[in-house]
Amino acid sequence: MHIQQNLSLKNYNTFGIDAKAKFFVSISSIDELKHVLSLKDYPKKFILGGGSNMLLTKDVDALVVHIDLKGIEIIEEIDDLIHIKANAGENWHEFVLWCLSHDYGGLENLSLIPGNVGSTPIQNIGAYGVELKDVFVSCEAMNIETFEVRTFDFDECQFDYRESIFKQDLKGKYIITSVTFKLTKKNHNLNTHYGAIESELQKMSVSQPTIQDISNAVITIRESKLPDPKKIGNSGSFFKNPIISNEQLELLKLNFPDMPSYIISDTEVKVPAGWLIERAGFKGKTLGEYGVHKHQALVLVNYGDAKGQDIYQLSLLIQKTIYRIFNINIETEVNII
Ligand code: EPU
Repeated sequence: MHIQQNLSLKNYNTFGIDAKAKFFVSISSIDELKHVLSLKDYPKKFILGGGSNMLLTKDVDALVVHIDLKGIEIIEEIDDLIHIKANAGENWHEFVLWCLSHDYGGLENLSLIPGNVGSTPIQNIGAYGVELKDVFVSCEAMNIETFEVRTFDFDECQFDYRESIFKQDLKGKYIITSVTFKLTKKNHNLNTHYGAIESELQKMSVSQPTIQDISNAVITIRESKLPDPKKIGNSGSFFKNPIISNEQLELLKLNFPDMPSYIISDTEVKVPAGWLIERAGFKGKTLGEYGVHKHQALVLVNYGDAKGQDIYQLSLLIQKTIYRIFNINIETEVNII
């Protein structure tokens, strides 16, 4: 364990922003984590996982603690189900591939999501009809004040669309150290109802899909719409899809009859922010080193050496414009640092 000074975080955030950490340390065990958290010489600490859901708008004036806890462990097997614990520093997609290679089902729709295992419960990652909460058993997390590690079960996490207790009441209070998933060993529950998956499977000439086929379909869809962070810096969806009332939708439909929406309750619908942003004219807009992705307007991109501040200003302009045109507030999904 070695504390470095003035380290560029460019390789530690998928946006590829060249902001500096005043101090930086990688930890690979719970004991190291406890030790680092207790260091009085570094009063300010900043916890960094896969760096896939943040926009750095300035240098980080703190000790950046990079969670590099590795390991995958089978906890128990009950009939057709298997419980698997993955430590927080495991790369998410590599973990998904590991599960697929053992024919454990449940994560296939969540293939190719950037980031590490430890961040997945925080924002209840979701894609193509599945959310993390659907396969979640529990997670372990360390209290940053007392260093006590405790288990949070499903109910305690208070999952919602891109939400959990770790983004609300317990924000900044716990560090997730591992997550336990319940996956299927056979009789997998296949989720192909999300429109694009069925058509992709048809293109692949697959009529009886396996979990590997679904993963391949999801990978193809994601690659066609979403930029690869290794090539073009980004943090996936920059904004959440807003939820509006049925009444507001009816009013908006008078001016925008083709506005898509998905029913989420008797009184509310979710509107794709990507559609709003595209309608507002931002899709594919490029401002020098940064802009809005040309295939998916929800994704802001860094083509090279963009400054986090510039991307942040663009996001504010998008929010203001969407509010002016549609009277809808779109919230950021990405954490602005
Ligand atoms: N759309 C547009 N223009 C665009 C993008 C989208 O008009 O540029 C409209 C289309 O009508 C499309 C609809 O939006 O039918 C929905 O688009 P898509 O299926 O691509 O999904 P999304 O709502 O844009 C969400 C998640 C993604 C996830 C996909 C697939 C959020 C904020 N984003 O995007 O998650 O991969 O569904 O399930 O919920 C992420 O969180 O980083 C992420 C990529």
